[in-house]
Amino acid sequence: MTVTEPLALPLTPPPGGEVLHHSSRATVIWGDCRDTQVIAQVPNGYGLLCTDPPYGVRFNSGRSDRFTEIPGDDGSVDWPNVLADWVGRIGTTRGLAPSRHVYVFGYRPDQLAGPLRLGGTAELIWDKQDLGSGDLSSPWGPGHETFTFGVHVKRASDRGKGAGALSARLRRGSILRYPRPGRGRARHSNEKPVPLMADLIESSTVRGDLVVDPCAGSGSTGVAAVLSGRHCFLVELTRADAELAVERVQAAEHLAKQMEAL
Ligand SMILES: C[S@@+](CC[C@H](N)C(=O)[O-])C[C@H]1O[C@@H](n2cnc3c(N)ncnc32)[C@H](O)[C@@H]1O
Repeated sequence: MTVTEPLALPLTPPPGGEVLHHSSRATVIWGDCRDTQVIAQVPNGYGLLCTDPPYGVRFNSGRSDRFTEIPGDDGSVDWPNVLADWVGRIGTTRGLAPSRHVYVFGYRPDQLAGPLRLGGTAELIWDKQDLGSGDLSSPWGPGHETFTFGVHVKRASDRGKGAGALSARLRRGSILRYPRPGRGRARHSNEKPVPLMADLIESSTVRGDLVVDPCAGSGSTGVAAVLSGRHCFLVELTRADAELAVERVQAAEHLAKQMEAL
């Protein structure tokens, strides 16, 4: 009798990634966002880069072993430099459209402004209204995450002239309060709440714009984009997370279709 082994999932995506989902509203690629063949697939002149790359601090809350370590979280990847390829390098015309916005979790404006050519930056705070993941050895629990807002300016000289001073459409305070996905409900160690992502997306884009997240995790950015009438382009390295992102984005597409029919 021949025993058939179950097919093991490959740990690394093929060069250029694999498109797991493609529709009129959303594309989800299982791939490595450092791969130039993956970057080449993002439509040129897109409307918003909104992403949550690994923070380079090794995820370990000590609270639960439900989630494994996040790839790329060991400090070995220069994430601002990787994201520079996503907005478009100097001398190239590809990437994020000029004067459009960027949100990057876990990195400060001074780390991102140079490589991503950002003007009008602001440091924002997500108040989780609860203790989040992270080092739980301190008596001061990590109840917030910081992230950066900026306006992508193609020419450094324009940054000086203030062409990057454009801010989000609605003038707002820098603290955004949204409960993190509840205990036991979160499917990813760094899952962002969809209402938080929708707030950012709706502040910085109009309906029909394309929102790009090259480190998509469980796909919260994509879900928020689709539910807000935007389109999304997601890349995720971990196969299981990329599949989860597809599942959630498809549910959002279904819901968006139903809402449009009302
Ligand atoms: C902080 S998490 C993002 C969580 C996401 N915001 C959510 O709501 O679920 C970072 C993600 O980036 C992924 N990642 C790490 N290295 C990557 C790479 N080279 N290309 C694409 N994704 C990568 C990790 O697998 C992880 O899921």
